[in-house]
Amino acid sequence: MAALLAAAPAFAAGAAPPHQAWSFAGPTGHYDPATLQHGFRIYADVCAGCHSLNELHFENLAGIGLSAADIRRIAATHTIPDGTDAAGQPKTRSARPDDAIPDPFPSPAAAAQALGGVPPDLSHITMTHRGGPDWIAAFLTGFVPPPPGVTVPPGRFYNRFLRTGVTAMPPVVASADDARAVTTFLQWSADPHLNARHRLGYAGLAYFAFLAALASALKRRIWKQPRR
Ligand code: HEC
Repeated sequence: MAALLAAAPAFAAGAAPPHQAWSFAGPTGHYDPATLQHGFRIYADVCAGCHSLNELHFENLAGIGLSAADIRRIAATHTIPDGTDAAGQPKTRSARPDDAIPDPFPSPAAAAQALGGVPPDLSHITMTHRGGPDWIAAFLTGFVPPPPGVTVPPGRFYNRFLRTGVTAMPPVVASADDARAVTTFLQWSADPHLNARHRLGYAGLAYFAFLAALASALKRRIWKQPRR
């Protein structure tokens, strides 16, 4: 019985995500470019096949340390709609750095048809999803066999961090490290200016510390006892 109780929580749906230490958390929060680039690779190679990231433009990837040439090359691997030709047929062109990362499906209905569910846009997912980054990272590695007695319909997958336990998203991330990296990248894409803001914050603090030291030196000088 004790063994049963101990084993059960690993499989029960709606598990609480374990709390993780994130580099971007707290007042000294920052992003490490190597982790961001690792995370972007996973987004690009895996997630982007199904999920859009509408608010990110290719040129924004300079913020994770990619060069202008890399960005041009990555953009050029995407094809995007480009109006219609003289006969009224839809035209396409390859994407440029100032284009937004294009949607993998022409419409949510097309995505639902192909996948059995609509993959949400990931632009703000780490900010808007209940549980935040802890939940996203846990979800990505939370695919487990369903508990005895639970049947998962075809085309659905069991994930212990979902309240219902069942999702149309297949398991796609193998390691906790990859899950953390892609979650960090998604957090960055929702808030790309964190590093700059914190650098500015430190500069501000240094400035105020300097002013305080100056004020105290002046005060000592002004109120010095006169020599007798
Ligand atoms: C094969 C397509 C596919 C791939 C690849 C994929 N997803 Fe999904 N994802 C989906 C679908 C479909 C849903 C909606 C599931 C549903 O509504 O049942 C989803 C849902 C989600 C959700 C919301 C979960 C919830 O229920 O609240 C998150 C977060 C997510 N995906 C993140 C990712 C990340 C990050 C990657 C890349 C590592 C990724 N997905 C790769 C298809 C995919």
